[in-house]
Amino acid sequence: MDYDALKCNLKAIATFLDDASLLTSVEGYLLEIQGFTLTKMASDGPGVGAIVEIGSFKGRSTCYLALGSKRANREPVYAIDHFEGSPEHQEGAECATKEIETEGTTFNVFKRNIEAQGLSDYVRPIVASSREASATWDQPIRLLFIDGDHSYEASREDFECWEPFVVPGGLIAFHDIGRGPGVTEFYNELVAGSSAFTQVLGVLGLNVLRKAD
Ligand SMILES: C[S@@+](CC[C@H](N)C(=O)[O-])C[C@H]1O[C@@H](n2cnc3c(N)ncnc32)[C@H](O)[C@@H]1O
Repeated sequence: MDYDALKCNLKAIATFLDDASLLTSVEGYLLEIQGFTLTKMASDGPGVGAIVEIGSFKGRSTCYLALGSKRANREPVYAIDHFEGSPEHQEGAECATKEIETEGTTFNVFKRNIEAQGLSDYVRPIVASSREASATWDQPIRLLFIDGDHSYEASREDFECWEPFVVPGGLIAFHDIGRGPGVTEFYNELVAGSSAFTQVLGVLGLNVLRKAD
């Protein structure tokens, strides 16, 4: 038996369980194993540059990303969201969200969650649409997480606005592949026969691409 490999696996499992129990209070759509994947990419992923998230909602994925980067003493997470919710979060829709109905925004609960997890020093919120925020952005990105509006057009726009900033060898993760029809169609189109982007991971719909060198 390879005891070193076993020790390494057990340590990863223990961290996974600890992080998952810490973050159960932060509501969102990310599965725990997907959160763990984001944490590992933020702590150990390739390249140098910012971590950018499109679609932060109440901060669940933001916390997982910031946890990893903070642990490894790496770059902060830029959390980009107008915080007004996607179409499915509006009153009467499939995932109607209390805060959107009462306050018109999830930004207040987002801030409370980031603060409660002690991650404010690693999170830079940008309250704007993805397109608006990209217009003034000028930094290299090593990890881009796209989880905004899941329609085909919006997923394409998020990718086209932000991909040019991703460093060669950097990572681009998409959420809800196989669940959201629009984002899935765009993703499949993007990777089909592409040598510029190679899928390196697929974790129950959290799909990760590596940009070619
Ligand atoms: C599925 S939720 C994100 C879930 C989050 N990543 C989590 O872990 O719970 C989608 C978010 O994208 C945001 N959003 C939708 N369209 C956007 C746009 N054009 N620009 C910025 N944010 C947008 C919504 O406000 C919403 O908070």
